[in-house]
Amino acid sequence: MANKIRFDGRVAVITGAGAGLGRVYALELAKRGAKVVVNDLGSARDGSGVGAAAPADTVVKEIKAMGGEAVPNYDNVAITEGGENIIKTAISAFGKVDILINNAGILRDKSFVKSDRENWQIVIDVHLTGAFNVTRPAFINMKDNGYGRIVMTTSAAGLYGNFGQTNYSAAKMGLVGFMNTLKLEGAKYNIKVNTIAPVAASRLTEDVMPPDMLQKLKPEFVAPLVLNLCSENCNDSGYIFNCALGYYNRAAMVTGAGAVVGNGTDIPSPEDVAAQWKKITSLEGGKEFSQVGDQLMDVMSKFS
Ligand code: NAI
Repeated sequence: MANKIRFDGRVAVITGAGAGLGRVYALELAKRGAKVVVNDLGSARDGSGVGAAAPADTVVKEIKAMGGEAVPNYDNVAITEGGENIIKTAISAFGKVDILINNAGILRDKSFVKSDRENWQIVIDVHLTGAFNVTRPAFINMKDNGYGRIVMTTSAAGLYGNFGQTNYSAAKMGLVGFMNTLKLEGAKYNIKVNTIAPVAASRLTEDVMPPDMLQKLKPEFVAPLVLNLCSENCNDSGYIFNCALGYYNRAAMVTGAGAVVGNGTDIPSPEDVAAQWKKITSLEGGKEFSQVGDQLMDVMSKFS
């Protein structure tokens, strides 16, 4: 059996930890020794309403009742100062940040034609800009300490698409791009950045899935994978994982072998490209690139 995963001496910040998935991560990390900052704005499911202390306080109480250490924070991740305050809370209570889970989220679903700028902006602000606002001050502290574990929360809606969620899908895929570069910048400081695409019963999904399915999809099933990504043993960075029930798998951006059309000197015609369409669209022999330079070398190698 693998060694027990522990977080003694580690400080974890979890955004949106007053409910749903974030609450479960907070409890599970605390059970295994982490000191936890439980951030939650306590707004409505669509991000409206004034913030409430109750969700964060309730989770802090739960952690303390089982003998763990935790402090609440009620800042809004969508605001620059909010992100700074969340990390300040961790540093003033526990001295540092080792683990950050960007989890806070809202929904404003509408078919694209019915959507508007406000619904677009607030979803981008909470999910994508929110992750930036918290990650930047956390990353600076992690870099100074030479250690960090960051988890982003994307969604299958972003990875694969979901009707009525253009704003959410864009924000969630933005987080994947954010991770792709942050993993490179964190590498020499032992900062690992990974992303999860969970599926779980929560306030966000209560009216989008049938009750029998929701009953099975306990958020507790997502936490074991997340705890692995938060652990010292995690050597992977830049990975995306689907997690739901007891099923975990990796998703990736894969690039097909494609077709070389022409000789790299003469410009091919659109008809030349059309003639190779099958090969161009095929993912057979597909591979992953870990940074843009590798992909560019691959292009150049076809003509060297
Ligand atoms: P939830 O609604 O139960 O929890 C999200 C928490 O974030 C709430 O307690 C809310 O008050 C808090 N929050 C919202 N805006 C905030 C802000 N600006 N600042 C601070 N806190 C804020 O939802 P759930 O399902 O636990 O979602 C967690 C994350 O997982 C979200 O990022 C969501 O998009 C993502 N996700 C969830 C899926 C699911 O099946 N539940 C599917 C795919 C992604």
